[in-house]
Amino acid sequence: MTTPRKLVLIGAGEFAEIAYEYFTHDSPYEVVAFAVEDRFRDAPSLFDLPIVSVEDLERTHPPDDHAAFVAITNTQLNRVRARLYAATRDRGYPIAKYVSSRAFVWRNVEIGENSFVFEHNVLQYHVKVGNDVVLWSGNHVGHRTVIRDHVFMTSHAVISGYCDVGESSFIGVNACVGDHLTIGRDCTVGMGSVVVRDTEPGKVYVGNPAKPLEKSSYDTWKVPEALR
Ligand SMILES: CC(C)(COP(=O)(O)OP(=O)(O)OC[C@H]1O[C@@H](n2cnc3c(N)ncnc32)[C@H](O)[C@@H]1OP(=O)(O)O)[C@@H](O)C(=O)NCCC(=O)NCCS
Repeated sequence: MTTPRKLVLIGAGEFAEIAYEYFTHDSPYEVVAFAVEDRFRDAPSLFDLPIVSVEDLERTHPPDDHAAFVAITNTQLNRVRARLYAATRDRGYPIAKYVSSRAFVWRNVEIGENSFVFEHNVLQYHVKVGNDVVLWSGNHVGHRTVIRDHVFMTSHAVISGYCDVGESSFIGVNACVGDHLTIGRDCTVGMGSVVVRDTEPGKVYVGNPAKPLEKSSYDTWKVPEALR
């Protein structure tokens, strides 16, 4: 079966608008609709395309001839995007990914589905990027580093070689991570912070050298108790 080229974007916020632009002008996909959960559906259309209900998607845009991409940012430390990605995949939709034609991606780099790689990212030799990862513009990801599922990396971070960036972590602008380091799952690395040691899961690290704040990553991003 060939992958459908008609694409539904899940979400209708700013990232969905940006994803619409990028998929339309720099990918083989044709965006045909946006979909949001019923309780957030407050407009009928965007860019002259329908905004349909996620709950009704099989009827309006069936998975046999539509792919989907979940365009949600880091709300609740990536929990909202992760939930909608899993649900959409489980309903049988082929899941798209986007890699900018202006990114540098070495030939043996692996990038999972529902991941979005903006312009000027550098993904070096044997880098692995999991599913549902957002790499906003201009990051450097050094050789053999692994970026695990649901990570949100903002812009111009430098992750050195042989690192392991834990699931659902958030990396702020201009952060810097030394080589061979592990960022624990659910960590937040603040903007401009310099990580020189492995970090513990669920903590917020700021400063140079980066130290943990008392407040957890879960409190910072208001993650509901049940999802911590
Ligand atoms: C780390 C971060 C999430 C913390 O936000 P917060 O929970 O609202 O924390 P606060 O602003 O209350 O800061 C708590 C303390 O940490 C300090 N701090 C926060 N971020 C810091 C940073 N990046 N570097 C150094 N210190 C920092 C604050 O000065 C404050 O110190 P104080 O208690 O001595 O006054 C936030 O500062 C950050 O860096 N966000 C990333 C921004 C970004 O990259 N945006 C890109 C677009 S999505």
